[in-house]
Amino acid sequence: MKKFLLFLAFLTLTFANYKFAPNEECKSCHPLIFEEFQSSMHANSTIFKDPIHKAVWDIHPAKKRESYDCAKCHTPAADNLKELITPKNGILPDKNSKTQNEAISCAYCHRIKEIKEGLKTNINIISKEPKKYFGTLKDHIKSPYHEIDTSNQNFLKGNVCMGCHSHKRNRFGLNVCSTNENREIENANCVSCHMPKVKGSVSTLRETKTHTFHGFAGAHAHHDKLSKYVDIEFLPKLRGFEIAVNSKVPHDLLLHPLRVAFLKVSVIRNGKKVFEKKEIFVRVIGAEGKPTPPWLAKEVVKDTMIKENEKRVLKYSFELQKDDKIVAILGYKLVKPPMVKKLKLENVEIANKPFILKKETFKY
Ligand code: HEC
Ligand code: HEC
Ligand code: HEC
Ligand code: HEC
Ligand code: HEC
Repeated sequence: MKKFLLFLAFLTLTFANYKFAPNEECKSCHPLIFEEFQSSMHANSTIFKDPIHKAVWDIHPAKKRESYDCAKCHTPAADNLKELITPKNGILPDKNSKTQNEAISCAYCHRIKEIKEGLKTNINIISKEPKKYFGTLKDHIKSPYHEIDTSNQNFLKGNVCMGCHSHKRNRFGLNVCSTNENREIENANCVSCHMPKVKGSVSTLRETKTHTFHGFAGAHAHHDKLSKYVDIEFLPKLRGFEIAVNSKVPHDLLLHPLRVAFLKVSVIRNGKKVFEKKEIFVRVIGAEGKPTPPWLAKEVVKDTMIKENEKRVLKYSFELQKDDKIVAILGYKLVKPPMVKKLKLENVEIANKPFILKKETFKY
């Protein structure tokens, strides 16, 4: 215990100038959660770690204004958050800043007290108590390091995400990226799907069977944990066949305007591919009918993205024969191919590779 108290004293000294307790401070007691978190986009949301975010920032007009507006959501634990956002003061993201590198940190998220609704974006209201963390474990032991508050409705209803994920409008009022267009933030329960319960203890101080997954399953990381929320069905018809994509997701299948989803259907006969077709699902924003960068967009130019809880049926006139194998792959790319060059992301693997969300094989 003595050693442990010394360790805590050491932590307090080393990290004295942080507004939010650094992630490293959680590691000793919550090693599993800490490790999962490192693999998530919340730990990697900075321009230093996310090459796609950096590429957009590099061509964004806010960069010329020296105003890293993105900080509110991408580096909210920065000790110089205000200065980062303020235009024309020469203060830009700094690779050597420890607090910027904390990204969307443990303590930041666990101190979100309330969410204020706003027109352009929502705003997170942070509690003033640095060592009191909100959570949902009604049956918990005491932590020797921090207080625990399990009365916050935003946590209990799984709504704590909506300060950053609800919507983002540009100066023309266009919703560039939103999880739920109508801003119905009640009972959105993002947590049940993106933070499922997994094996392993919550902390090292008491053995529990499960804990909440902190790898934040999503388009970059751990998408295997989400594939069960989309089904692919095969329906033979008199002439040809149908493939249905049945989404059980309460938001568009993909949300960010850079994304593109696809469904590749092929027919294999006697070991040979005799048919192949690829459908594309996108949401394109722009002006006067043409795609533009998000800051110039005034309208949705095209929207074929699979919508919330939609069952999309695709018809194929190809005539099947007995014993044909039908392979259907639902996948996506993080960056639409035409945007890769504009963003100079040709050499960045994750911006170019296809991700497979679900693959099914059927026999006729
Ligand atoms: C209101 C909060 C908010 C603000 C402000 C914000 N973002 Fe984001 N950003 C998000 C969220 C949430 C996501 C994840 C969206 C998703 O995956 O669907 C995201 C994702 C992104 C992505 C996709 C990253 C990837 O790896 O594919 C890019 C690019 C991006 N943001 C750029 C920016 C830039 C540039 C700014 C500042 C000019 C900015 N964002 C400001 C919330 C915000
Ligand atoms: C000295 C050990 C220790 C450290 C360091 C520590 N915690 Fe904890 N924490 C605990 C214990 C013990 C529990 C209760 C676990 C239980 O009941 O099984 C807990 C529970 C929690 C909960 C759960 C609240 C709930 O009811 O859902 C949160 C959130 C939390 N810690 C966040 C953090 C964060 C963030 C950090 C780092 C800034 C951190 N902890 C550092 C020991 C620690
Ligand atoms: C402080 C703002 C903020 C909060 C709060 C927040 N997020 Fe995020 N989230 C982001 C940003 C920014 C990104 C995009 C990071 C990037 O790609 O660079 C993101 C990305 C994601 C992704 C995509 C991950 C991937 O692999 O592509 C998921 C899923 C996600 N968040 C879920 C959640 C959930 C669930 C909650 C609530 C428990 C939550 N977020 C709370 C800002 C936030
Ligand atoms: C029923 C399960 C389910 C619920 C509930 C859910 N999602 Fe998702 N979410 C998914 C699936 C499935 C995907 C697509 C999988 C992928 O991109 O790998 C996804 C993708 C995402 C992405 C990445 C999109 C992109 O374009 O990069 C973000 C961010 C996200 N969800 C946030 C949220 C938030 C915030 C909520 C709560 C309002 C929420 N989700 C509720 C299942 C769910
Ligand atoms: C984007 C927001 C977000 C971030 C970042 C985040 N958490 Fe959590 N955390 C949550 C939510 C939401 C829950 C409640 C989950 C539930 O209700 O099932 C939770 C639950 C917990 C719990 C309760 C135990 C459990 O497994 O249910 C602990 C402990 C915890 N978090 C610690 C941490 C630590 C340590 C970090 C950083 C390494 C961290 N959290 C980062 C949102 C976050």
